[in-house]
Amino acid sequence: MKIRKAVIPVAGLGTRFLPATKAIPKEMLTIVDRPTIQYIVEEVVASGIDQIIFVTSEGKSAIENHFDYNFHLDAVLREKHKIALGEELNNISNLIDIVSVRQKKPLGLGHAIWTARHVVGDEPFMVLLGDDMVLSQVPCAKQMLELFDEIGESIVAIQRVPANQTHQYGIVEGEENGREKTFRVRRMVEKPAPGTTDSDMAIIGRYILMPDIFDILSTTTPGHGGEIQLTDALLALTKKRSMYAYEFDGKRYDAGDKMGYLKAIVAYGLRHTEIGKDFREHLIEIAADL
Ligand code: UTP
Repeated sequence: MKIRKAVIPVAGLGTRFLPATKAIPKEMLTIVDRPTIQYIVEEVVASGIDQIIFVTSEGKSAIENHFDYNFHLDAVLREKHKIALGEELNNISNLIDIVSVRQKKPLGLGHAIWTARHVVGDEPFMVLLGDDMVLSQVPCAKQMLELFDEIGESIVAIQRVPANQTHQYGIVEGEENGREKTFRVRRMVEKPAPGTTDSDMAIIGRYILMPDIFDILSTTTPGHGGEIQLTDALLALTKKRSMYAYEFDGKRYDAGDKMGYLKAIVAYGLRHTEIGKDFREHLIEIAADL
């Protein structure tokens, strides 16, 4: 079973980042020289997946346009002999086959995934959240695909979080299953009230899911925050078949949150081939003045 398709939900309202996200999708906010969503699409491409399915909503057409061919811009850049820049833009639109489905109402992440069911069909697939960035040597999606080749069951990517932050995440409880950094999921709960779980394993925005999830999502009722929660459907899936949590190698940034976004800019800026060195010197200068 090869994973051929990746669903990237981008239909959320982005309220944590208002007013920046009133007219601009949060996935289009820039990290150094490209929008957040481009890093995620590049991770998918680098992992060998064939097709991306964006789950979009009203006001998100900038994302589709970004990955489309812009005939007018291409002609103007050619006229001005900016050939390399034109080619770079065309490369973005040639990266991968992209289709979109529309989530008509923001009923939750679970509902957004369910909206992609007809395009995904009856095969396992990957999910990457459109504002969750992972900086790693081997792309996070690729690490998960390699694990999937071995175990052939659903996988959620996790990171460890301090106990006072578990209420901000979907939390997984489970036992290590003999493979390094891999845990068999026993229970999962979306944003548990403080003190109600001993686990520090927080789900981040990367999943590999078996297609059974669609049937489960079709009957999943609204949960935390009145939204149809993917975590609730995942818990139901663990009752039917095994699920694994994988502590990936790398650092995750929640670019849909102000602080996470700033941290991502610093991390990606420091590693940028063109400006990384100067940026480092600048940060040292600023820090010295504090
Ligand atoms: P978030 O929790 O980040 O929600 O959703 P949000 O609405 O985008 O942002 P805030 O919290 O209001 O600031 C996690 C992921 O699920 C998608 C989002 O686009 C994001 O990638 N999502 C969420 C949907 O596609 N549809 C929904 O109804 C809800």
